Amino acid sequence: MAISGLRGYIYKELLWGVLFIVGRPMKDVKKRIEELREEIRRHDYLYYVLNQPEISDREYDKLFAELKKLESEHPELIVPTSPTQRVSERPVEGFEPVQHAIPMLSIDNTYSEEELREFDRRVAKGLEGAEYSYTVELKIDGLAISLRYEEGILRQAATRGDGRTGDDVTANVRTIRAIPLELKNKESAPEVLEVRGEVYMSKKAFAELNEERMEAGEPTFANPRNAAAGSLKLLDARITATRKLAFFAYSLGQVSRQLAPTHYEAMQKLRDFGIPVNEHIRHCRTIEEVIEVCQGWAGKKERLAYPIDGMVIKVNRYDQQEILGYTGRAPRWCISYKFAPEQAETIVESIDVQVGKSGILTPVANLRPVPLAGTTVKRASLHNFDLLAKLDVRCGDTVVIEKAGEIIPQVVTVKHQQRNLFESRPFEVPKTCPACSRPVKKDENGVYIRCVNPHCPAQIRERLEHFAGKGQMDIEHLGPALIDQLVSRGLVKTYADIYRLRLDQLASLERMAAKSASNVLASIEESKRRPLWRLIAGLGIRNIGTQSAQILANEFGSLEALMEASVERLQQIEQIGPVVAQSVYDYFHNPENVRVLRELLAAGVCPTVEQVKQSDALAGKTIVVTGTLKHFTRQQIEQTIQAHGGKPSSSVSKKTSFVVAGDNAGSKLDKARQLGVEVIDEEEFLRRIGQRRQP
Ligand code: IVH
Repeated sequence: MAISGLRGYIYKELLWGVLFIVGRPMKDVKKRIEELREEIRRHDYLYYVLNQPEISDREYDKLFAELKKLESEHPELIVPTSPTQRVSERPVEGFEPVQHAIPMLSIDNTYSEEELREFDRRVAKGLEGAEYSYTVELKIDGLAISLRYEEGILRQAATRGDGRTGDDVTANVRTIRAIPLELKNKESAPEVLEVRGEVYMSKKAFAELNEERMEAGEPTFANPRNAAAGSLKLLDARITATRKLAFFAYSLGQVSRQLAPTHYEAMQKLRDFGIPVNEHIRHCRTIEEVIEVCQGWAGKKERLAYPIDGMVIKVNRYDQQEILGYTGRAPRWCISYKFAPEQAETIVESIDVQVGKSGILTPVANLRPVPLAGTTVKRASLHNFDLLAKLDVRCGDTVVIEKAGEIIPQVVTVKHQQRNLFESRPFEVPKTCPACSRPVKKDENGVYIRCVNPHCPAQIRERLEHFAGKGQMDIEHLGPALIDQLVSRGLVKTYADIYRLRLDQLASLERMAAKSASNVLASIEESKRRPLWRLIAGLGIRNIGTQSAQILANEFGSLEALMEASVERLQQIEQIGPVVAQSVYDYFHNPENVRVLRELLAAGVCPTVEQVKQSDALAGKTIVVTGTLKHFTRQQIEQTIQAHGGKPSSSVSKKTSFVVAGDNAGSKLDKARQLGVEVIDEEEFLRRIGQRRQP
């Protein structure tokens, strides 16, 4: 007995030993997988619902990669609600129709305060003297979607369609990280919970997407709404997943149990279930309060990171909504207040053709300066020559311009009847490059015309400007004016030439004192040890922006390793699709590029690989950044703060440790001063994280 007990003990120990050698015991793996899923969901909630991320994107990606690895080793543990299961590998053939349980109605629009007061009079009359109040919300400019949760699990997502029947876009909607696949606190959720809201694209994601599309020779989207709608109606969810769509809930559809007696409270409940609801929702007692909130937003909407086209006003109590009921197409308890369209009329003084860093020729209209949405507009992009021909824009024309998603001004209509028919000539599509006079070529099956001369000075200038720019190698004193001089004098053609510049060459340039020349050389020298991702992002590889550059840098760790990667190896990386993989491979297999890269390394460029955690210099500090910075984009400084142990925050309060203020800092700076919070500049910030010497 004693012996067999001992033997049993030895066997058991041996078995555990084998398990530990082969891998973790199964129950530990299962536990870790569950922990990781929970942790990822918690960070999604902090990011998308509370708008208060606790970790950097990179740390998030690490958690994700660990989960992905464990699941690939233990596929039997994969569940459809795992954060790794958002993207379906199989494209759909078409969208199935979905009948909405309750029709998705549209809303009536108003354009003036007086119309809002009329709406209020109708509500008062309908409610026969009872007390009532309103909610006021931002009218997000995206597309309406219905999400059906059953027992806390996202079962179906459908577009509005004609209001009665929409399209089943579940596979695409599952890729939107702001939308939980499984509700938080799902035990307390109603069995059926249909949430309605707006899928949208942030202004930044829209600008990046258009830039990538242009680089790839694809037509750009006119505004973030079209981009969001186009992205949701793709048959391949893997592409939707790359489009950075987001979501805000604004109402309920079918529910098996009412969440609350009022709309305002119900929206707060949705937040508890992990569903993003816009933070600017307000509860107002009177229509005058409503009007004040609406007017406030008309002047502030440019500051938002996402596009809005007005406000939505709703009677707050559900029982009162029911009393008021519906007209044929819209509810009587809800109205939108649309902002005056941000348009202006002006005259096209001339049309220029610009050459981008990959040779694309873009027509740009020079306009008689005109105020529009808070800035003076002097130029408007005409996007491409097909659009220019379609609009038939000519010099001297009166045009209506608009800010597309409040970012780039564009020409929307041409007042042809106001044209002087004797003087006006159609704009001729260039046959040669305006910068190097070489013949240009139209993309096959594409809309863009390109200069294909790799030595074109305009392309060289654009490429170098991008390389030295603050989001890439951040060479402080090497700005566009200096690059222009260096290129026209033939002193710099390639990235490597920058690192071979001599003091005497710089000092011989116009308006360049000896001190400035040595500042230029010092900032070039400093850039030699920039993080690897900055170098990759600076090379101007087609389809590679900051984010993909960071992914590649993390994955390969050195420029040499990246240069040797095969297409297959590149495609193995989760976030890198086949098109991007091919363009990276092509770039590094072009002998001219390889030569320049070898010269860069020979000239002493030695990119560093950033550690996720760099120091504790900012430990325990909550830091708010405001205004435009010289050395960082907003995303980069937030990552840097986190890498040094600090916590970036978007609003100033007494708890803020200090504010980093760049140029044109606005209300956050005022608030910091009011509260007596310390304000420092960017140089001081760099000193605090040890990237500048103490003065
Ligand atoms: S409420 C019956 N609230 O605007 C009430 N709609 O022009 C349904 N929208 O189809 C809509 N933000 O796509 C509501 N906070 C908001 C909204 C909003 C954007 C969109 C929605 C709707 C369209 C009506």
